[in-house]
Amino acid sequence: MQIKNILVSQLAAVGLASALPQASPTPTATPTPAATPSAFNILTLRSASDIHFNEFNAALGSVFLQLPNNNATCDTTSDGAATFYLSEGGLYLYSNSNPPQQLYADRSGMGQGKFGYVTGAQPPPRNAELTGWGLDDAGNLNLDGAGFLACPNSIQDSWSVWVNAGVDQPAGNSGCLGFSARAVENTDPNACLYTE
Ligand SMILES: *[C@@H]1O[C@H](CO)[C@@H](O)[C@H](O)[C@H]1NC(C)=O
Repeated sequence: MQIKNILVSQLAAVGLASALPQASPTPTATPTPAATPSAFNILTLRSASDIHFNEFNAALGSVFLQLPNNNATCDTTSDGAATFYLSEGGLYLYSNSNPPQQLYADRSGMGQGKFGYVTGAQPPPRNAELTGWGLDDAGNLNLDGAGFLACPNSIQDSWSVWVNAGVDQPAGNSGCLGFSARAVENTDPNACLYTE
């Protein structure tokens, strides 16, 4: 389970501390809005499902859950979880590459919410959206308010990740589930080049 890699303090930071044994109750005043973390991993939230508490994996220009090997080239040993950052509405994979690998969504009739990334000078698909990414008040990643879906039976028994383009079962998939993509700050991000 990838949840083992999530620090208790990170769970506390995203408001999931109630899921953990409490040592001593912390007095709280008014809830503070989620600050935008500089680098973050994604924790998937869909209770009572196979995709609760997964992390985003990036490989082959796409995003997956439960992918066993991403084969990324990283500065330090990778636990497989992809690390992201936001800049001026764009969403990027954390790396030393210039330009960095950049995420897009294709919500056209063809793309049906395809969520992927481009490397170097690779052009995004014709209808790809590159900006409009952000975190809502709960810290959930979204594209102009649109959330995410994951569909089972992808490569190596992983789940493929899609932006919700209003299609429940994109690209002929079945068993797709919506989930919240909670950004969890990564204070020690690992720079990686993910496979194209
Ligand atoms: C990673 O590399 C292994 C060994 O070459 C291969 O079997 C696997 O399909 C690769 N995974 C991805 C996501 O490319």
